[in-house]
Amino acid sequence: MSIESLARPEIVAMRPYSSARKEAPGEGILLNANEAPWSLLDGSDGEAPLNRYPEPQPLALVERLADLYGVPPDQVLVTRGSDEGIDLLTRVFCRAGQDAILQSPPTFGMYKIAAQAQGADVVSIPRSAADGFRMQEQAILDALKADRRIKLVFLTSPNNPTGDVVREVFLETLLEQARDRAVVVVDEAYAEFCSQPSAASRIGGYPNLVVLRTLSKAWAAAGLRCGAVLAQPELLALLRRVIAPYPLPSPVTALALRMLQSDVLARQRQMLQDLAANKQTLLAALDGRPFVDELIAGEANFVMIRVEGATDLLAFCASRGVILRGFPADALLRRYIRISVGSAQDIDALAAVLDDWENQA
Ligand SMILES: Cc1ncc(COP(=O)(O)O)c(C=O)c1O
Repeated sequence: MSIESLARPEIVAMRPYSSARKEAPGEGILLNANEAPWSLLDGSDGEAPLNRYPEPQPLALVERLADLYGVPPDQVLVTRGSDEGIDLLTRVFCRAGQDAILQSPPTFGMYKIAAQAQGADVVSIPRSAADGFRMQEQAILDALKADRRIKLVFLTSPNNPTGDVVREVFLETLLEQARDRAVVVVDEAYAEFCSQPSAASRIGGYPNLVVLRTLSKAWAAAGLRCGAVLAQPELLALLRRVIAPYPLPSPVTALALRMLQSDVLARQRQMLQDLAANKQTLLAALDGRPFVDELIAGEANFVMIRVEGATDLLAFCASRGVILRGFPADALLRRYIRISVGSAQDIDALAAVLDDWENQA
């Protein structure tokens, strides 16, 4: 069975838009894309001129990301952050009013938003706080078996906001059971912070496996909006049918390539070590405080605490200029606060505010 049989038939049937740059990749006298013949800004050396549309999938960046993530270049689609990957997947695989995604909340909120925007249903297999927010693995397998509407299963490893990783044996079982049945998406936005190997090495064996990666977190480049969808070429070909013709602005590609050079790689490794050390400092600053009922360390660049009166504590911190993430509208997380691992100064500032909170309580 081909991956096309899982996609929306109208996506499979449609003839994809052929952009000017795709038809003529940028050599010769270019009078085919209604571009201006000159740029009004001087570009730096080696930068693509702004008057020209960028490469739809910049080859140098695709190759660099393939190398970084340990897959062949034909298994890489570069996107505007993972958010765009989530959106493309939902649009390609879910028919409005008929299909569904499966998610395991609490988890990253954009899976649900993408499904709702597409008119797809959301099957949630919630984790329970009483159970340490572990994924309900058997319930996920059962739901997939019972509900034929499920076309996309979103797993997040490490998960946001609980920080736990997907067990490899579970992923293996799920991939087997989802063969010819649904696409399994492993969102690895925080993978660099944990020691578990990427699921990307399994892509060769599973035409229905997608891995999402991003430069937003462990590459300290959330402002760049650069991510990658990793999957077999046949699945990526379906996403190419709906992706915008030029998703990556040429300055973004130039910056991403600069970012991924070997001299920056050494700085990135150092940053990951510094963040790991700061995480220990943050945990120590939270541990043992009388108002912290639970401290979840997780395996990513954030931690969670459970407190009575989370909303008041969030407001108190904000009034002192320290902004944390609360979840007041989420029944599972109402009492939890997520705290990103910041700089040593950030943690000192947070600790001082928490001291004040403790003293006034
Ligand atoms: C699990 C997860 N996936 C994806 C994203 C979005 O990443 P990007 O900045 O690449 O769009 C986030 C952002 O917080 C996230 O937590």
